Amino acid sequence: MGWSVAPLTDWESWHDAYEDPDSLLSERLRVVQQHISEWLDARPGEVTVVSACAGDGRDLLGVLQGRADRRRVRATLLEADPGIARRAAETVHALGPADIEVRCTDAGITTAYAGAVPADLVLLCGIFGNVADEDVQRTVAAAAQLCKTGARVIWTRHRRAPDLTPQIRAWFVEHHFAEEHFVAPQHGTYSVGVQRFLGDPEPLEPDRRLFSFNK
Ligand SMILES: C[S@@+](CC[C@H](N)C(=O)[O-])C[C@H]1O[C@@H](n2cnc3c(N)ncnc32)[C@H](O)[C@@H]1O
Repeated sequence: MGWSVAPLTDWESWHDAYEDPDSLLSERLRVVQQHISEWLDARPGEVTVVSACAGDGRDLLGVLQGRADRRRVRATLLEADPGIARRAAETVHALGPADIEVRCTDAGITTAYAGAVPADLVLLCGIFGNVADEDVQRTVAAAAQLCKTGARVIWTRHRRAPDLTPQIRAWFVEHHFAEEHFVAPQHGTYSVGVQRFLGDPEPLEPDRRLFSFNK
């Protein structure tokens, strides 16, 4: 693991809501995991996954824990908080032999993705609710640098007013990401989107800032 940025929020405590299986965060996690599982079931062979702001990686790693075919997945998890990244790395270690790298790095800069993209699956979970709208737009516009043709992007965002999700969905479509699913239950404010990249991958521009988390 390399350098890191200083944490601005106690993201370690944020993960506590996952301990309650009835929390909306746990429910959101299950939706994300279901889409990861379904995608893996439908996509044979070697695949690459990148998770930006991965937290402790439980969405992807939780799915891989239950899969005998996990060794066909090459994954890179990008997480800025050293303690959380360490927990992700411990979970990876517990998985046994696996081609999974945890990078303690600032995922808001394109360079952090070098060597890990273009990927077949890109996880952008827990980002869009914590950055400025312009950063969301910039990240969606740059997603073609992270994706192979046909890749899926799984993203999340709350729908509290003013609800940005209609705009996010439109931005994805504008940038050649067809919408496959949009899960937005009435009993909660979370949402999970799944997009499929129809375009051609673009070269990764080095040192370009896509987003910064709000203070
Ligand atoms: C809302 S949590 C989401 C974690 C995980 N993706 C999930 O959905 O469970 C945001 C995570 O992003 C991390 N983070 C914040 N800014 C970051 C940055 N610039 N680069 C990488 N990770 C960052 C935080 O430490 C935290 O673990």
